[in-house]
Amino acid sequence: MPRVLVSDFIPGDLLDPLAGMAEIEMWDQGGRAPRAWLLKHLPGCEGWLSMLSDDIDAELLDAAQGLRVISQMSVGVDNIDVSACREHGVTVGHTPDVLTEATADTAFALMAAAVRRIPEGAQIVKSGQWGPWDPWHFLSGDLHGATIGIVGMGRIGQAIARRARGFDMEVVYTARSRKEIADATEIDLHGLLRMSDIVVISVGLDGETRGMIGREELKLMKETAFLVNVARGPIVDTDALVAALAAGVIGGAALDVTDPEPLPADHPLLEFHNCLVVPHIGSATIGARRAMATLAVANLTAYLRQQPMPAWLPGSAQQPQGDYPGTGPPPLAG
Ligand code: DGY
Repeated sequence: MPRVLVSDFIPGDLLDPLAGMAEIEMWDQGGRAPRAWLLKHLPGCEGWLSMLSDDIDAELLDAAQGLRVISQMSVGVDNIDVSACREHGVTVGHTPDVLTEATADTAFALMAAAVRRIPEGAQIVKSGQWGPWDPWHFLSGDLHGATIGIVGMGRIGQAIARRARGFDMEVVYTARSRKEIADATEIDLHGLLRMSDIVVISVGLDGETRGMIGREELKLMKETAFLVNVARGPIVDTDALVAALAAGVIGGAALDVTDPEPLPADHPLLEFHNCLVVPHIGSATIGARRAMATLAVANLTAYLRQQPMPAWLPGSAQQPQGDYPGTGPPPLAG
């Protein structure tokens, strides 16, 4: 039987499709699987069910003799050196679609909380400072009717745009490939930054988007505008964001992702009352995470059966095209 490494805990019922067709070795001690553990256990494994916290680089791939397929339990694959995978003949799968709606919900939860100052209000109540109702106390901007600028109009960006229409927002967006989106206007990044009340980052991290929102871009935003990031931390220059918040260049920020991640408890970003940070929970609903694990397992089993994978990552080694019937020991991948 082929060996498969799983680099974080996956509940047994979700691994069932793999049981009987592969010998499974799982890191189930919490936290991310240590590199030394990966280096020790990957050689001889044909498959790897990986996490976005694994740094998958050429060194690891060199060590992982016999590895044919990586199936990552996330849509983002910026932790994977995809061209090194291709060079090593390693096929990669990931988990798009199944987390789209949960992540868009999180984007809305973050923007509503930040714009309407919900965490600050809750803190006032908890600290016993809730005084009599005051007509001028705790005022904020409006969410409804705001102009939302969505940077990246992929699946998640489009799901955010659908929600924005329900809030009577005006939607503007940037997209890397031309997209016709109903009731939304495509504009360039600088125009979007200038006119939006809320800027939401929902674009993948790569060489082009790393550091895309820096000092100059933040300066273009309205001084009342909020920056929301549900994509990847390094798309925003953290030092520039700290400086912008300190100087009141923007109204506030709400971040599901940060750079670095995890963010140390004494990080300056956490000192601002108008900066809300949550720990990369965009897709953390029971439904989405189970669906992600299910798809990651399905990618792996498809590969081991030499069948096309439900979600193969273009740019990695070719996926199988074969017609293995799916019973008995799977053939070795070619
Ligand atoms: C992803 O899948 O890339 C998210 O960041 C985690 O759900």
